[in-house]
Amino acid sequence: MSDCDPVKAAVAAHWNRRAPTFDSDFGHSITTPDERAAWDRILNLVTDGRNELDALDVGCGTGFLSFELAAFGHRAIGIDFAASMLEEARRKATDSGATIRFEQGDAENLPFGASSFDLVVSRHVLWTLPHPEAAVVEWVRVLRPGGRLVVLDSQFDPKLPLNPRQNARASSEYAGLDQWLPFLGGRPPADIEALFAAHGLVDIGHDPITDLVEAHYRRMRAEGLPPQRRSRYVAWGNRPN
Ligand SMILES: C[S@@+](CC[C@H](N)C(=O)[O-])C[C@H]1O[C@@H](n2cnc3c(N)ncnc32)[C@H](O)[C@@H]1O
Repeated sequence: MSDCDPVKAAVAAHWNRRAPTFDSDFGHSITTPDERAAWDRILNLVTDGRNELDALDVGCGTGFLSFELAAFGHRAIGIDFAASMLEEARRKATDSGATIRFEQGDAENLPFGASSFDLVVSRHVLWTLPHPEAAVVEWVRVLRPGGRLVVLDSQFDPKLPLNPRQNARASSEYAGLDQWLPFLGGRPPADIEALFAAHGLVDIGHDPITDLVEAHYRRMRAEGLPPQRRSRYVAWGNRPN
């Protein structure tokens, strides 16, 4: 897996290094009532209001989406190739008593049979994959008929200042990876929707999650950080029945 692919090994090394502080980086956790309200609405878009789903969180990291889904009564499995991110996720599951399986594996080559999940969801992962389109094919493969694929992501705006400590692309591990990561910097939601359509999904849509963007903006101001509005979205599509 990551050991024999130098690009994936570099990506995994970056996230292993970031694991202990990942949750405290801006935007990785829910800290204000505004953010909570925005995420409640976003999670309803993610699940399409369905209950008790078998859900896979691909590139789960420290488990943000897995924990949110579990809290809403879904059966969540998180998969990631970075051992230290998984260690954090498992520690949090033990501390909170959440029954979530966190497994090590490659987002582009999942260790699950076809039609295993009602929901496959991924936040901030497509941009860092060497083969994002192949990954989408793989994620559709493990969806049951009628199941839902959801991608949450953001798009890099070169006009906005970045915190180098929290910016993967400015890191030593990502140096020289640009040519191997075709979605680096993020893609607009229309591109993700086109990818979903090309691989047979239906009822495709997206939402710009401006409530979360505004909640972040207010929090940045309250915390004395340079406020900025970063373009974000959630995009979805369903596997036909
Ligand atoms: C920006 S972090 C996002 C983590 C989590 N999804 C979240 O929203 O908090 C990207 C995650 O994708 C994981 N990742 C990147 N490429 C992967 C791959 N090929 N297979 C599995 N995990 C991968 C990294 O290890 C990292 O945990």
